[in-house]
Amino acid sequence: MTSRVLILGGSGRIGSSVAADLVAYTEADVTIAGRNPTTGERVSQNLGSRVKFLTLNLADQAGLTAAIASTDLVIHCAGPFHYRDARVLKTCTAAGINYVDVSDHPSFTRKAMEYAADAEQAGVTAIVNTGIFPGISNSMVREDVEQLDEAEHIHLSYVVAGSGGAGVTVMRTTFLGLQRPFQAWMDGEWKTVKPYSDRETIEFPAPYGRTGVYWFDMPETFTLPGTFPVKTVITKFGTVPDFYNYLTWTVARWWHPWMLRQTPVIEFLSQVSHLMTDVTDRVSGIGVAIRSEVTGKKEGKPARCCSTLVHETPRSRQATALAASPNCYCLAS
Ligand SMILES: NC(=O)c1ccc[n+]([C@@H]2O[C@H](COP(=O)([O-])OP(=O)(O)OC[C@H]3O[C@@H](n4cnc5c(N)ncnc54)[C@H](OP(=O)(O)O)[C@@H]3O)[C@@H](O)[C@H]2O)c1
Repeated sequence: MTSRVLILGGSGRIGSSVAADLVAYTEADVTIAGRNPTTGERVSQNLGSRVKFLTLNLADQAGLTAAIASTDLVIHCAGPFHYRDARVLKTCTAAGINYVDVSDHPSFTRKAMEYAADAEQAGVTAIVNTGIFPGISNSMVREDVEQLDEAEHIHLSYVVAGSGGAGVTVMRTTFLGLQRPFQAWMDGEWKTVKPYSDRETIEFPAPYGRTGVYWFDMPETFTLPGTFPVKTVITKFGTVPDFYNYLTWTVARWWHPWMLRQTPVIEFLSQVSHLMTDVTDRVSGIGVAIRSEVTGKKEGKPARCCSTLVHETPRSRQATALAASPNCYCLAS
């Protein structure tokens, strides 16, 4: 049977990549959806005859319900998820349609997880946070935790080179993450942490090497302590070139929180940053790296497990991403 897949935000950078993979590796008929028909039609034509475009605004509940009713799987890529409620998941659950999203904002993850029991009762498979981080990052941590008899501390860090290969929405997600302090699990209790504070230098695999990372509010900041009985979970994020770290730190440190809560300010910062990465991507390259380090005990002795992943787009082939698979090693410490 040919499956029908609806990709909300399918005309965007992430959604269109998901559509391209579905065309390459499955026989599914794909519908990509978004508000702008000019962009949507252009993207669907580039993806081939198995991909159709549907003009759809998530705010149009009747249109959303109809689109979900005529598909077998919904893949929600229409961020920024900070601005989203869980209506897509709710509608999928009511219609009995399986659901996947690439959400990356803690507020959205919390809202979506409220529907876990409903989805289970309806027999719907609903998977949230399935991107690279969160997503692959969670699997890397789990792999490290499972190597140990007792996990105590999780340190998860990410670096993005240039635009990271994502669209302007990811810039929005970054600046939205600076809006307010958040809670992090440290030494067995929740503590308030300022975004983009407490710079640490982490050794990532080549080509990134030693890179500065800062506290960042991610879904993993609360989903990992909810999953593993550890004492501490640290989630830190940084950028290459380092210049962007200093700019982001300056905004987080010196701009009044009220300003950062204004949508036009977030939009201005996101658009300017995206234009800047259009230029600097040519020098810095485009890529993402993740490093998970879990410390604890194995056979009664202190031990440390570390996983790394690099997903890089070479400068000479910026349109083609290299496939990446995590590399994991464990050491007695
Ligand atoms: N978990 C992870 O590892 C990870 C990694 C990368 C990105 N992400 C997340 O994935 C999301 C998409 O990123 P991107 O780089 O693909 O962004 P993008 O290129 O800006 O694409 C956003 C897409 O959503 C659509 N959209 C926006 N608002 C909509 C609305 N109200 N109704 C219907 N469609 C709407 C846009 O089309 P129209 O403007 O035409 O409506 C577009 O197709 C972001 O939230 C980002 O943070 C997650």
